[in-house]
Parts: sequence; C-alpha cells; structure tokens
Amino acid sequence: MAERVVPERVVPAQRLADEAGFKKSCIPEVGRLLALAAAAKPGGVVAESGTGAGVGTAWLHSGLGPGARLVTVERDEELARRAAGLFADDDRVRVLTGDWRLLEAHAPFDVFFCDGGGKRDAPERVVELLAPGGILVLDDFTPSAEWPPRFEGHVDELRLFYLTHPDLDATEVLTTPASSAVVAARRA
Ligand SMILES: C[S@@+](CC[C@H](N)C(=O)[O-])C[C@H]1O[C@@H](n2cnc3c(N)ncnc32)[C@H](O)[C@@H]1O
Repeated sequence: MAERVVPERVVPAQRLADEAGFKKSCIPEVGRLLALAAAAKPGGVVAESGTGAGVGTAWLHSGLGPGARLVTVERDEELARRAAGLFADDDRVRVLTGDWRLLEAHAPFDVFFCDGGGKRDAPERVVELLAPGGILVLDDFTPSAEWPPRFEGHVDELRLFYLTHPDLDATEVLTTPASSAVVAARRA
C-alpha cells in the first residue's frame, strides 16, 4: 500500500534524524495532530520543548499560519544547530539552544508540544504557560483500558495530572493501537 505523503519539511528533518542516529522523533500520527493544532491557531504562538532533529517542528510548521510564530528549544547544541538549518529561510521560526525554560520568554502559548523538558519535571508550569484556549499536546503514552490510567502496574500519576487538571479540558487519543497522546485546551 502506498504511504501517505508527509509535509515537505518533514522529509529533510527525518533525514537529519537518521543521519544523527536520533530515534525519538514523533511519529506521523502525532505529527498530523501537531499540524492540526498549529492550523487551528493561525495567528498564534506555537511552542515545542525538545526540538530533537526537527521532525515535530516540521509538522508544526506545516500547519503554521502566515501570522503565527513557532519557537522550539533543544538542549543538545549540535541537534539544535542542525535543526535550525532546516528552518533558516522562515523568519516565523526560532530554534533556541538550551533548557526548555528559555521558552517562557515567549509565553503564553496558543499551542504547546511539550516533548523535552517540562512534561515531567514541571507539569504545573506547563499548564500556566498556555494562553486561554491554548492547546497542549503530550505524546508517548501507553493506552490504558482502566481509570485511573495505569502504566506498568501503577496508576500513571503524570497522565492523571493532565487529564484531570481543573484548568484544562483534556482527553487521551490513540495515535496507534499501542500509543496515545494527551490533548488538552486551557479553559478561558
Ligand atoms: C522526544 S525528543 C524530541 C522529539 C521532537 N519533539 C520530535 O517530535 O521530533 C526529546 C528531546 O528533548 C530534549 N530535551 C530533554 N530535556 C530537555 C530540556 N530540559 N530542555 C531542552 N531540551 C530537552 C532532548 O535532548 C531530546 O532531543
């Protein structure tokens, strides 16, 4: 069966990931969610923690409106430098090098793909950085048939935090039969 076409910049980003031996890029199913979220906020501030090789950034970029801005941060200097090269022709995009907290200067976020820093170590701060109506995407969960959700025999407290946060309307969506993402919007 033919594979579904991916946005133009995802191809060089995936090539960079392959060359760098970087194995943590988001999967296309998550990428399409990211593109959708960015497209829903055409004049918004779109943020990503953990640029990696720029695959998620490229998906976000594919939905980016003409008046939107995309800021992403990566603590690995070499990855950040190489990923920045993929977007050097578009002044709507900034690739920062350093800790994810550098993103705070660009908040509030209309879309936040929290994928490297923040998700586990500062979840409350992650929610605070969202604009009213801002969309949060967190991937790499393992679907659980139970409530509260469980992972490796224990209640998944982190997932529960986001799914039940009083400032969020949140849900978990399957991205493949074996993986899921939490998608949330901050209440206005
Ligand atoms: C899951 S990968 C990112 C994949 C990328 N978002 C994508 O979808 O293709 C996580 C990345 O976050 C970076 N990272 C981890 N902790 C970080 C932090 N505190 N600040 C900035 N980057 C961080 C790692 O170096 C790694 O490249």
